[in-house]
Amino acid sequence: MDLFEFQAKELFAAHGVPTLPGITVTDADAAKAAAEKIGTDTVVKAQVKVGGRGKAGGVKFAPTPDAAREKAQEILGLDIKGHVVGTVLVTQASDIETEYYVSFLLDRSNRTFLAMASAEGGMEIEQLAVERPDALVRVPVDAGTGVDLAKAREIAEAAHMPAEVSEKVAAVLVSLWETFVAEDATLVEVNPLVRTPTGDILALDGKVTLDDNAAFRHAEEFERFADSSTVDPLEAAAKAKHLNYVKLEGAVGIIGNGAGLVMSTLDVVTYAGEEFGGQKPANFLDIGGGASAQVMADGLSIILGDPAVKSVFVNIFGGITACDAVANGIVQAIGMLGDVTKPLVVRLDGNNAEEGRQILADANLSIVHPVDTMDGAAKLAAELASKGN
Ligand SMILES: Nc1ncnc2c1ncn2[C@@H]1O[C@H](COP(=O)(O)OP(=O)(O)OP(=O)(O)O)[C@@H](O)[C@H]1O
Ligand SMILES: [Mg+2]
Repeated sequence: MDLFEFQAKELFAAHGVPTLPGITVTDADAAKAAAEKIGTDTVVKAQVKVGGRGKAGGVKFAPTPDAAREKAQEILGLDIKGHVVGTVLVTQASDIETEYYVSFLLDRSNRTFLAMASAEGGMEIEQLAVERPDALVRVPVDAGTGVDLAKAREIAEAAHMPAEVSEKVAAVLVSLWETFVAEDATLVEVNPLVRTPTGDILALDGKVTLDDNAAFRHAEEFERFADSSTVDPLEAAAKAKHLNYVKLEGAVGIIGNGAGLVMSTLDVVTYAGEEFGGQKPANFLDIGGGASAQVMADGLSIILGDPAVKSVFVNIFGGITACDAVANGIVQAIGMLGDVTKPLVVRLDGNNAEEGRQILADANLSIVHPVDTMDGAAKLAAELASKGN
């Protein structure tokens, strides 16, 4: 899960990474009140999960509370790369002498953790990484030993942090690594990490990605940080039913048992769909091994609840849960859901496939179209989707 800046900074502060106080608000009057409460010059910052906020006009200096209201008015509702700003952070403004860049991340390709740092931080870091990669150092971090003060000094030195700040930067790196480990993050990034004219080091921005696989260890945080405004409602409904569902762009709803089978079903449907005006899968949905009637009903209700879906392809390979059980599940699920009108193309193969097909035939449901092969079923599902309305 990607966090908003204010959430990232909350975690930073909890682990000793120096940040400035701030208040999040959703309307301009509250921004004025927040600036009054903070009692200094402020900066009003768009809270959206996308980079380049500053350049898009989403970060503005406000010398007075009235200015904070004015700036919040300008920023709220702004569309930054498709993300509409609904919340701004009003935070204490800092004088800045120099901007640095530091981050820790999971480096999957090298199967290690990685520190990245540069003495030239700020808004142009992506450009710097491309044009002068030497100025952005990459230091592998061993998972077993992590980042102690000695390692942090090594990173700061490699990044050419000026001698007078390198000790303070190293201390921040240790706290940032603690954040990374304790919160089960896959990314913690500070850009800019600034040096103030008085020599303090502060994290003025923060980006954190938490590892969803560790959600069970941080249940309270995951619930509190969840952002209902950007979650697809169908994905949220599927999650509530513990289904592995991902919304896609097309009109052919997909249900399968086993992630590998569902992945290949997406490919086969996309290929078959070319013949029918470019029909595409509407979703990924893996109902797993134990496809009970209830799970089938849950899956079907999510898919049929998607107005973009014109046909559904149920692709089952019977294993431990045999096809007859799945076929019964399909028949019962249709009964549980009531008025299902969209066509269901069902391909059953594997354990007890014949029995399963017989169950579907006996049920004699006009919306169910049994097809024996995966390619044939994909083709029919795409064709039916192209005829749907
Ligand atoms: N509290 C602050 N006080 C003074 N200046 C700030 C403050 N926060 C941000 N700035 C200035 O605004 C610039 C942009 O802010 P910030 O880094 O938060 O957004 P961004 O980099 O544009 O967004 P993103 O990191 O999402 O791409 C910073 O590089 C810094 O110069
Ligand atoms: Mg930034």
